[in-house]
Amino acid sequence: MKKKIMAAVMTAAMVAGLAGATSVYAAEDTITVGFSQVGAESDWRTANTESMKSTFSEENGYELIFDDAQQKQENQLTAIRNFIQQEVDYILLAPVTETGWDTVLQEAKDAGIPVIIVDRMVDVSDDSLYTTWIGTDALLEGRKAAEWLNAYATAKEIKPEDLHIVDIQGTIGSTAQIGRTQGLEEGVEKYGWDLLEQQSGEFTQAKGQEVMESFLKSYDDIDVVICENDNEAFGAIDAIKAAGKTCGPEGDIIVVSFDSVKAAFESMIAGDLNATFECNPLHGPRVAEIIQKLEKGEEVEKIQYVDEAYFDTSMDLEEILKTRAY
Ligand code: AHR
Repeated sequence: MKKKIMAAVMTAAMVAGLAGATSVYAAEDTITVGFSQVGAESDWRTANTESMKSTFSEENGYELIFDDAQQKQENQLTAIRNFIQQEVDYILLAPVTETGWDTVLQEAKDAGIPVIIVDRMVDVSDDSLYTTWIGTDALLEGRKAAEWLNAYATAKEIKPEDLHIVDIQGTIGSTAQIGRTQGLEEGVEKYGWDLLEQQSGEFTQAKGQEVMESFLKSYDDIDVVICENDNEAFGAIDAIKAAGKTCGPEGDIIVVSFDSVKAAFESMIAGDLNATFECNPLHGPRVAEIIQKLEKGEEVEKIQYVDEAYFDTSMDLEEILKTRAY
């Protein structure tokens, strides 16, 4: 562990009577964290990485070992094993999908390294394999979006069976996809909407565009596209326009998305996007607070959800955008 190495260096420095031993004392307090990040697939992810990097900085008393897994679970497994070998103080994991973590988390537990799960959830047989989880309630987001769509369609006097929907899903098996898809499917069941097709856009703009292009070729009666993040929506909007159709509150197709990044506000102001359901990426300070409590030997809650809002074109978006952090 870094602390042990630094303590040894400190002792050697003191024995040798070296100048600068005080700065070595300071280094002893450094907390080393290994962070396995999903990738860089979206504006949300960029904001999340930035929040973690600016929080776990040298000035704040941390050494951060950052690993970008490029949306691949096998890269995350390798990163975690490297963190264990490096004897980090904490492992932070934003898991790409929910399953497949039991073995590697058992290895971390055996090594005595606390694991903090950030953003998406893990589905493990033994929840003592991680210390705590902090992130978004994706099912609640999906349910809020479905209720918003029902209220919007009802106000426009669109019959439920006349609401033809396509769903551009997120990365299959990720918490954000599972919850948002389930929220929509519950709405379909409850209100009797016509769900035409679901396909993954992998949370990227490029794939979102590609999937929407193929939906537009297959169906000429799409009324709504649910995009499971904002970047997919930006791609879908490009595809809709390229197909000679319009979208947004005055257009042919209602576009709904998740995250509420700054560019989504610009898209709503431009009249392209109807609504976006917030998913807050600013987890750095929250995770640091958890680590500080653990350092003091305090208990932390096992599951911690973050409060989230939603935004649509009925709101004063220019005003909200002025203070938007991401
Ligand atoms: O897990 C959070 C999701 O992952 C965000 O909605 C998305 O933009 C990101 O890639």
